[in-house]
Amino acid sequence: VAKAHGFPTVVMIGGGQLSRMTQQAAIALGVELRVLSQSPTESAAQVVGEIFIGQHDDAAAIEKIAIGADVVTFDHEHVPLEIIRDLESRGVVVRPGSKALAHAQDKVLMRQKLESLEIKQPKWKVLNSISDGVEFANVVSYPFIIKVSRGGYDGRGVWVCKDETELADLLSQPLGSDVQWLAEEFIPFERELSAQVARSPHPQMIAYPVVETQQKEGMCSVVIAPAPNLDPERAVEAQRVAMQIADALDVTGMLAVELFDTGSEILVNELAMRPHNSGHWSIDGAITSQFENHLRAVLDLPLGSPKAKSEWTVMVNVIGGDFSDMFHAFKHCMARDPHVKIHMYGKEVRKGRKIGHVNVSSEDLEDALRRAQHAADYLIGNIEE
Ligand SMILES: Nc1ncnc2c1ncn2[C@@H]1O[C@H](COP(=O)(O)OP(=O)(O)O)[C@@H](O)[C@H]1O
Ligand SMILES: [Mg+2]
Repeated sequence: VAKAHGFPTVVMIGGGQLSRMTQQAAIALGVELRVLSQSPTESAAQVVGEIFIGQHDDAAAIEKIAIGADVVTFDHEHVPLEIIRDLESRGVVVRPGSKALAHAQDKVLMRQKLESLEIKQPKWKVLNSISDGVEFANVVSYPFIIKVSRGGYDGRGVWVCKDETELADLLSQPLGSDVQWLAEEFIPFERELSAQVARSPHPQMIAYPVVETQQKEGMCSVVIAPAPNLDPERAVEAQRVAMQIADALDVTGMLAVELFDTGSEILVNELAMRPHNSGHWSIDGAITSQFENHLRAVLDLPLGSPKAKSEWTVMVNVIGGDFSDMFHAFKHCMARDPHVKIHMYGKEVRKGRKIGHVNVSSEDLEDALRRAQHAADYLIGNIEE
Protein backbone atom coordinates (compact mmCIF):
# COMPACT_ATOMS: atom_id res chain seq x y z
CA VAL A 1 0.00 0.00 0.00
CA ALA A 2 1.42 3.37 -1.04
CA LYS A 3 1.42 6.01 1.68
CA ALA A 4 2.61 9.53 2.28
CA HIS A 5 6.34 9.61 2.98
CA GLY A 6 7.25 9.73 6.65
CA PHE A 7 3.74 9.22 7.92
CA PRO A 8 3.35 6.36 10.40
CA THR A 9 1.42 3.09 10.28
CA VAL A 10 -0.72 2.04 13.24
CA VAL A 11 -1.84 -1.55 13.76
CA MET A 12 -5.11 -2.07 15.61
CA ILE A 13 -6.02 -5.54 16.86
CA GLY A 14 -9.74 -6.15 16.48
CA GLY A 15 -12.11 -5.12 13.70
CA GLY A 16 -15.11 -3.81 15.62
CA GLN A 17 -16.71 -0.38 15.51
CA LEU A 18 -13.92 1.21 17.56
CA SER A 19 -11.43 0.35 14.81
CA ARG A 20 -13.91 1.53 12.21
CA MET A 21 -14.23 4.93 13.88
CA THR A 22 -10.45 5.10 14.41
CA GLN A 23 -10.11 4.76 10.64
CA GLN A 24 -12.26 7.86 10.27
CA ALA A 25 -9.72 9.77 12.37
CA ALA A 26 -6.73 8.14 10.63
CA ILE A 27 -7.95 9.43 7.26
CA ALA A 28 -7.84 13.05 8.39
CA LEU A 29 -4.46 12.61 10.06
CA GLY A 30 -2.94 10.90 7.01
CA VAL A 31 -1.98 7.98 9.22
CA GLU A 32 -2.15 4.45 7.78
CA LEU A 33 -4.31 2.08 9.81
CA ARG A 34 -3.84 -1.67 9.52
CA VAL A 35 -6.43 -3.83 11.27
CA LEU A 36 -6.51 -7.46 12.36
CA SER A 37 -10.11 -8.53 11.85
CA GLN A 38 -11.79 -11.88 12.47
CA SER A 39 -13.54 -11.75 9.11
CA PRO A 40 -13.71 -9.61 5.96
CA THR A 41 -17.23 -8.50 6.91
CA GLU A 42 -16.51 -7.11 10.39
CA SER A 43 -17.29 -3.45 11.04
CA ALA A 44 -13.76 -2.10 10.44
CA ALA A 45 -12.84 -4.61 7.74
CA GLN A 46 -15.37 -2.89 5.47
CA VAL A 47 -13.57 0.46 5.62
CA VAL A 48 -9.90 0.04 6.49
CA GLY A 49 -7.30 0.05 3.69
CA GLU A 50 -5.15 -2.77 4.99
CA ILE A 51 -7.04 -5.66 6.54
CA PHE A 52 -5.40 -8.81 7.83
CA ILE A 53 -7.76 -11.65 8.65
CA GLY A 54 -6.98 -13.50 11.87
CA GLN A 55 -7.96 -14.09 15.47
CA HIS A 56 -6.89 -11.73 18.24
CA ASP A 57 -5.35 -14.62 20.21
CA ASP A 58 -3.33 -15.97 17.29
CA ALA A 59 0.31 -15.05 18.01
CA ALA A 60 1.45 -15.75 14.45
CA ALA A 61 -1.29 -13.55 12.94
CA ILE A 62 -0.42 -10.70 15.32
CA GLU A 63 3.30 -11.02 14.63
CA LYS A 64 2.63 -10.88 10.89
CA ILE A 65 0.51 -7.74 11.04
CA ALA A 66 2.95 -6.01 13.44
CA ILE A 67 5.91 -6.23 11.05
CA GLY A 68 6.89 -2.77 9.83
CA ALA A 69 4.25 -0.97 11.88
CA ASP A 70 5.18 2.00 14.05
CA VAL A 71 2.89 1.00 16.90
CA VAL A 72 0.40 -1.73 17.81
CA THR A 73 -2.79 -0.85 19.68
CA PHE A 74 -6.21 -2.41 20.40
CA ASP A 75 -9.94 -2.08 19.83
CA HIS A 76 -10.70 -4.45 22.74
CA GLU A 77 -8.84 -5.83 25.75
CA HIS A 78 -8.91 -9.53 24.95
CA VAL A 79 -5.47 -10.08 23.39
CA PRO A 80 -3.55 -12.54 25.62
CA LEU A 81 -0.84 -10.77 27.63
CA GLU A 82 1.78 -13.39 26.72
CA ILE A 83 1.43 -12.42 23.07
CA ILE A 84 1.83 -8.73 23.91
CA ARG A 85 4.82 -9.37 26.20
CA ASP A 86 6.46 -11.41 23.50
CA LEU A 87 6.03 -8.60 20.95
CA GLU A 88 7.47 -6.11 23.45
CA SER A 89 10.46 -8.31 24.18
CA ARG A 90 11.24 -8.24 20.48
CA GLY A 91 11.15 -4.46 20.29
CA VAL A 92 7.65 -3.97 18.85
CA VAL A 93 6.10 -0.79 20.24
CA VAL A 94 2.77 -1.71 21.88
CA ARG A 95 0.55 0.99 23.39
CA PRO A 96 -0.92 0.64 25.89
CA GLY A 97 1.86 -1.70 27.02
CA SER A 98 1.32 -5.05 28.70
CA LYS A 99 1.92 -3.69 32.23
CA ALA A 100 -0.86 -1.14 31.88
CA LEU A 101 -3.23 -3.31 29.88
CA ALA A 102 -3.16 -6.08 32.48
CA HIS A 103 -5.32 -3.83 34.69
CA ALA A 104 -7.97 -3.34 32.02
CA GLN A 105 -8.04 -7.08 31.30
CA ASP A 106 -8.36 -8.31 34.86
CA LYS A 107 -10.74 -6.64 37.30
CA VAL A 108 -9.10 -8.31 40.33
CA LEU A 109 -5.69 -6.93 39.38
CA MET A 110 -7.34 -3.55 38.88
CA ARG A 111 -9.00 -3.64 42.31
CA GLN A 112 -5.67 -4.53 43.96
CA LYS A 113 -3.88 -1.72 42.14
CA LEU A 114 -6.53 0.88 42.98
CA GLU A 115 -6.35 -0.22 46.61
CA SER A 116 -2.59 0.33 46.66
CA LEU A 117 -3.14 3.78 45.14
CA GLU A 118 -5.77 4.51 47.84
CA ILE A 119 -8.37 5.33 45.20
CA LYS A 120 -11.98 5.04 46.34
CA GLN A 121 -13.82 1.99 45.02
CA PRO A 122 -16.52 -0.49 46.11
CA LYS A 123 -15.57 -3.07 48.77
CA TRP A 124 -14.53 -6.25 46.98
CA LYS A 125 -13.36 -9.81 47.51
CA VAL A 126 -12.20 -12.70 45.37
CA LEU A 127 -14.51 -15.69 45.89
CA ASN A 128 -12.82 -19.07 45.85
CA SER A 129 -15.77 -20.82 47.45
CA ILE A 130 -19.37 -20.36 48.50
CA SER A 131 -18.23 -19.74 52.06
CA ASP A 132 -16.10 -16.82 50.82
CA GLY A 133 -19.34 -15.41 49.41
CA VAL A 134 -21.21 -15.97 52.66
CA GLU A 135 -18.40 -14.20 54.52
CA PHE A 136 -18.61 -11.27 52.07
CA ALA A 137 -22.40 -11.10 52.51
CA ASN A 138 -21.79 -10.74 56.26
CA VAL A 139 -19.72 -7.62 55.51
CA VAL A 140 -21.76 -5.90 52.77
CA SER A 141 -25.09 -7.81 53.06
CA TYR A 142 -27.24 -8.95 50.12
CA PRO A 143 -27.67 -8.03 47.35
CA PHE A 144 -24.08 -7.74 46.15
CA ILE A 145 -22.45 -7.95 42.73
CA ILE A 146 -20.60 -10.90 41.29
CA LYS A 147 -18.41 -10.49 38.20
CA VAL A 148 -16.01 -12.57 36.21
CA SER A 149 -12.54 -11.07 36.58
CA ARG A 150 -11.80 -11.25 32.85
CA GLY A 151 -13.51 -11.48 29.47
CA GLY A 152 -16.82 -9.75 30.31
CA TYR A 153 -18.22 -6.81 28.33
CA ASP A 154 -21.51 -4.90 27.95
CA GLY A 155 -22.69 -6.34 31.27
CA ARG A 156 -22.12 -9.95 30.17
CA GLY A 157 -20.23 -11.32 33.13
CA VAL A 158 -21.93 -9.18 35.82
CA TRP A 159 -24.73 -10.44 38.08
CA VAL A 160 -26.67 -9.21 41.09
CA CYS A 161 -26.58 -11.87 43.79
CA LYS A 162 -29.55 -11.54 46.15
CA ASP A 163 -29.20 -14.55 48.43
CA GLU A 164 -27.22 -17.67 49.22
CA THR A 165 -29.14 -19.81 46.71
CA GLU A 166 -28.19 -17.43 43.90
CA LEU A 167 -24.65 -17.35 45.19
CA ALA A 168 -24.41 -21.11 44.92
CA ASP A 169 -26.01 -21.09 41.45
CA LEU A 170 -23.65 -18.42 40.18
CA LEU A 171 -20.51 -20.04 41.53
CA SER A 172 -21.50 -23.39 40.04
CA GLN A 173 -20.98 -21.97 36.55
CA PRO A 174 -17.73 -23.06 34.89
CA LEU A 175 -14.88 -20.55 34.82
CA GLY A 176 -11.99 -20.25 32.37
CA SER A 177 -8.58 -21.25 33.72
CA ASP A 178 -7.30 -17.72 34.43
CA VAL A 179 -10.69 -16.31 35.48
CA GLN A 180 -11.82 -15.62 39.07
CA TRP A 181 -15.10 -14.68 40.74
CA LEU A 182 -14.97 -11.10 41.92
CA ALA A 183 -17.57 -10.01 44.46
CA GLU A 184 -18.31 -6.33 44.89
CA GLU A 185 -20.44 -4.33 47.24
CA PHE A 186 -23.65 -3.24 45.45
CA ILE A 187 -23.36 0.52 45.03
CA PRO A 188 -26.80 2.23 44.99
CA PHE A 189 -25.35 4.99 42.83
CA GLU A 190 -27.27 8.10 41.81
CA ARG A 191 -25.71 7.85 38.39
CA GLU A 192 -22.67 6.62 36.50
CA LEU A 193 -19.95 8.88 35.15
CA SER A 194 -17.00 8.40 32.86
CA ALA A 195 -13.74 10.34 32.97
CA GLN A 196 -11.61 9.98 29.86
CA VAL A 197 -8.04 11.08 29.43
CA ALA A 198 -5.51 10.67 26.64
CA ARG A 199 -1.89 10.17 27.65
CA SER A 200 1.15 9.99 25.40
CA PRO A 201 4.57 8.49 26.21
CA HIS A 202 6.05 11.99 26.17
CA PRO A 203 4.18 12.22 28.59
CA GLN A 204 1.43 14.66 27.72
CA MET A 205 -2.06 14.28 29.09
CA ILE A 206 -5.46 15.85 28.34
CA ALA A 207 -8.77 15.28 30.12
CA TYR A 208 -12.16 15.28 28.43
CA PRO A 209 -15.18 16.79 30.13
CA VAL A 210 -16.61 14.24 32.60
CA VAL A 211 -19.76 12.69 31.14
CA GLU A 212 -22.83 10.93 32.54
CA THR A 213 -23.42 7.43 31.21
CA GLN A 214 -26.68 5.50 31.42
CA GLN A 215 -26.64 1.72 31.16
CA LYS A 216 -29.51 -0.59 30.17
CA GLU A 217 -29.01 -4.17 31.33
CA GLY A 218 -25.32 -3.43 31.81
CA MET A 219 -24.89 -1.97 28.32
CA CYS A 220 -24.21 1.70 27.67
CA SER A 221 -27.25 3.37 26.12
CA VAL A 222 -27.05 7.15 26.67
CA VAL A 223 -24.17 9.55 27.30
CA ILE A 224 -24.57 13.20 28.25
CA ALA A 225 -21.57 15.48 27.80
CA PRO A 226 -20.81 17.13 30.10
CA ALA A 227 -22.49 15.39 33.07
CA PRO A 228 -25.40 17.66 34.09
CA ASN A 229 -25.42 19.23 37.57
CA LEU A 230 -21.98 17.92 38.41
CA ASP A 231 -20.31 20.10 41.00
CA PRO A 232 -17.21 21.58 39.29
CA GLU A 233 -15.06 20.39 42.21
CA ARG A 234 -16.42 16.88 41.82
CA ALA A 235 -15.73 16.99 38.07
CA VAL A 236 -12.14 18.02 38.69
CA GLU A 237 -11.79 15.25 41.29
CA ALA A 238 -12.96 12.69 38.69
CA GLN A 239 -10.49 14.05 36.13
CA ARG A 240 -7.71 13.96 38.74
CA VAL A 241 -8.49 10.33 39.58
CA ALA A 242 -8.34 9.42 35.87
CA MET A 243 -5.04 11.25 35.45
CA GLN A 244 -3.61 9.68 38.58
CA ILE A 245 -4.50 6.21 37.28
CA ALA A 246 -3.11 6.96 33.81
CA ASP A 247 0.20 8.09 35.33
CA ALA A 248 0.46 5.33 37.92
CA LEU A 249 -0.21 2.60 35.37
CA ASP A 250 1.77 4.30 32.59
CA VAL A 251 -1.22 4.16 30.27
CA THR A 252 -0.61 5.33 26.71
CA GLY A 253 -3.57 6.09 24.46
CA MET A 254 -7.10 6.71 25.67
CA LEU A 255 -8.13 5.72 29.19
CA ALA A 256 -11.76 5.64 30.29
CA VAL A 257 -12.44 5.44 34.01
CA GLU A 258 -16.01 4.30 34.71
CA LEU A 259 -17.27 5.84 37.95
CA PHE A 260 -20.19 5.56 40.35
CA ASP A 261 -21.52 8.88 41.65
CA THR A 262 -23.24 8.13 44.96
CA GLY A 263 -24.15 11.77 45.52
CA SER A 264 -21.53 12.10 48.25
CA GLU A 265 -18.53 10.42 46.64
CA ILE A 266 -17.07 9.06 43.44
CA LEU A 267 -15.99 5.41 43.27
CA VAL A 268 -14.10 3.70 40.46
CA ASN A 269 -15.98 0.90 38.69
CA GLU A 270 -13.59 -0.16 35.96
CA LEU A 271 -10.98 0.90 33.41
CA ALA A 272 -10.82 0.71 29.61
CA MET A 273 -7.58 1.49 27.78
CA ARG A 274 -8.90 2.24 24.32
CA PRO A 275 -11.57 4.45 22.79
CA HIS A 276 -14.76 3.84 24.78
CA ASN A 277 -18.51 4.07 24.24
CA SER A 278 -18.64 6.98 26.71
CA GLY A 279 -16.51 9.01 24.28
CA HIS A 280 -18.48 8.60 21.04
CA TRP A 281 -20.05 12.01 21.64
CA SER A 282 -16.62 13.53 21.00
CA ILE A 283 -16.75 12.76 17.25
CA ASP A 284 -19.25 15.57 16.77
CA GLY A 285 -19.14 17.30 20.14
CA ALA A 286 -15.45 17.94 20.88
CA ILE A 287 -12.66 19.74 19.07
CA THR A 288 -10.69 16.47 18.94
CA SER A 289 -12.44 13.11 18.99
CA GLN A 290 -11.33 10.29 21.32
CA PHE A 291 -10.37 8.30 18.21
CA GLU A 292 -8.06 11.01 16.93
CA ASN A 293 -6.52 11.49 20.38
CA HIS A 294 -6.02 7.74 20.75
CA LEU A 295 -4.02 7.76 17.51
CA ARG A 296 -2.11 10.89 18.50
CA ALA A 297 -1.32 9.43 21.92
CA VAL A 298 -0.10 6.02 20.76
CA LEU A 299 2.03 7.75 18.10
CA ASP A 300 3.44 10.18 20.71
CA LEU A 301 2.13 13.15 18.73
CA PRO A 302 1.00 16.33 20.46
CA LEU A 303 -2.57 15.80 21.70
CA GLY A 304 -5.60 17.68 20.42
CA SER A 305 -7.94 19.83 22.47
CA PRO A 306 -10.65 17.80 24.24
CA LYS A 307 -12.89 20.85 24.67
CA ALA A 308 -16.59 20.57 23.94
CA LYS A 309 -17.79 22.53 20.92
CA SER A 310 -21.26 23.19 22.26
CA GLU A 311 -23.06 23.44 25.56
CA TRP A 312 -24.38 19.87 25.42
CA THR A 313 -23.87 16.79 23.31
CA VAL A 314 -26.05 13.72 23.79
CA MET A 315 -25.11 10.32 22.39
CA VAL A 316 -27.65 7.52 22.17
CA ASN A 317 -26.65 4.03 21.08
CA VAL A 318 -28.60 2.36 18.30
CA ILE A 319 -29.16 -1.14 19.64
CA GLY A 320 -30.61 -3.80 17.35
CA GLY A 321 -34.22 -4.92 17.85
CA ASP A 322 -36.67 -6.87 15.71
CA PHE A 323 -36.80 -4.24 13.00
CA SER A 324 -34.39 -4.78 10.12
CA ASP A 325 -35.46 -2.11 7.61
CA MET A 326 -32.88 0.36 8.86
CA PHE A 327 -32.37 2.26 5.64
CA HIS A 328 -35.93 3.46 5.37
CA ALA A 329 -35.82 4.67 8.97
CA PHE A 330 -32.41 6.20 8.36
CA LYS A 331 -33.77 8.39 5.57
CA HIS A 332 -36.72 9.41 7.72
CA CYS A 333 -34.40 10.48 10.57
CA MET A 334 -32.31 12.62 8.25
CA ALA A 335 -35.36 14.27 6.75
CA ARG A 336 -36.98 14.89 10.11
CA ASP A 337 -34.02 16.46 11.86
CA PRO A 338 -30.92 17.74 10.08
CA HIS A 339 -29.20 18.28 13.46
CA VAL A 340 -28.92 14.56 14.17
CA LYS A 341 -25.57 13.00 13.34
CA ILE A 342 -26.03 9.30 12.60
CA HIS A 343 -23.10 6.89 12.85
CA MET A 344 -23.67 3.38 11.52
CA TYR A 345 -21.21 0.54 12.11
CA GLY A 346 -21.99 -1.55 9.01
CA LYS A 347 -23.24 -4.39 11.20
CA GLU A 348 -26.17 -6.67 10.57
CA VAL A 349 -29.11 -6.00 12.87
CA ARG A 350 -29.21 -8.46 15.75
CA LYS A 351 -31.18 -8.09 18.93
CA GLY A 352 -29.19 -6.42 21.70
CA ARG A 353 -26.24 -5.62 19.46
CA LYS A 354 -24.67 -2.16 19.19
CA ILE A 355 -25.14 -1.25 15.52
CA GLY A 356 -24.62 2.51 15.59
CA HIS A 357 -25.10 5.67 17.58
CA VAL A 358 -26.50 9.15 17.12
CA ASN A 359 -25.09 12.43 18.41
CA VAL A 360 -27.01 15.64 18.89
CA SER A 361 -25.45 18.90 20.09
CA SER A 362 -27.57 21.74 21.40
CA GLU A 363 -27.59 24.72 23.71
CA ASP A 364 -30.54 23.04 25.43
CA LEU A 365 -30.07 19.66 27.12
CA GLU A 366 -33.74 18.62 27.02
CA ASP A 367 -33.81 19.40 23.31
CA ALA A 368 -30.67 17.34 22.63
CA LEU A 369 -31.97 14.40 24.69
CA ARG A 370 -35.33 14.40 22.95
CA ARG A 371 -33.90 14.60 19.45
CA ALA A 372 -31.21 11.97 19.99
CA GLN A 373 -33.55 9.54 21.73
CA HIS A 374 -36.18 9.95 19.04
CA ALA A 375 -33.70 9.24 16.24
CA ALA A 376 -32.26 6.17 17.99
CA ASP A 377 -35.76 4.84 18.76
CA TYR A 378 -36.94 5.46 15.22
CA LEU A 379 -33.93 3.73 13.68
CA ILE A 380 -34.64 0.52 15.55
CA GLY A 381 -38.38 0.64 14.90
CA ASN A 382 -39.54 1.63 18.39
CA ILE A 383 -41.55 4.49 16.94
CA GLU A 384 -43.90 4.49 13.98
CA GLU A 385 -45.17 7.69 12.49
N1 LIG B 1 -20.50 -2.79 42.35
C1 LIG B 1 -21.55 -2.41 41.59
N2 LIG B 1 -22.65 -1.84 42.15
C2 LIG B 1 -23.72 -1.48 41.40
N3 LIG B 1 -23.78 -1.64 40.05
C3 LIG B 1 -22.73 -2.20 39.42
C4 LIG B 1 -21.55 -2.62 40.14
N4 LIG B 1 -20.67 -3.12 39.26
C5 LIG B 1 -21.25 -3.04 38.05
N5 LIG B 1 -22.49 -2.50 38.13
C6 LIG B 1 -23.40 -2.20 36.97
O1 LIG B 1 -23.12 -3.11 35.91
C7 LIG B 1 -22.58 -2.42 34.78
C8 LIG B 1 -21.52 -3.28 34.09
O2 LIG B 1 -20.48 -3.58 35.01
P1 LIG B 1 -18.94 -3.48 34.58
O3 LIG B 1 -18.10 -3.97 35.68
O4 LIG B 1 -18.67 -2.12 34.07
O5 LIG B 1 -18.91 -4.59 33.41
P2 LIG B 1 -18.56 -4.51 31.85
O6 LIG B 1 -17.14 -4.92 31.77
O7 LIG B 1 -19.52 -5.48 31.24
O8 LIG B 1 -18.80 -3.08 31.42
C9 LIG B 1 -22.05 -1.11 35.34
O9 LIG B 1 -21.97 -0.11 34.36
C10 LIG B 1 -23.10 -0.82 36.42
O10 LIG B 1 -24.28 -0.30 35.84
MG1 LIG C 1 -18.20 -1.30 32.26
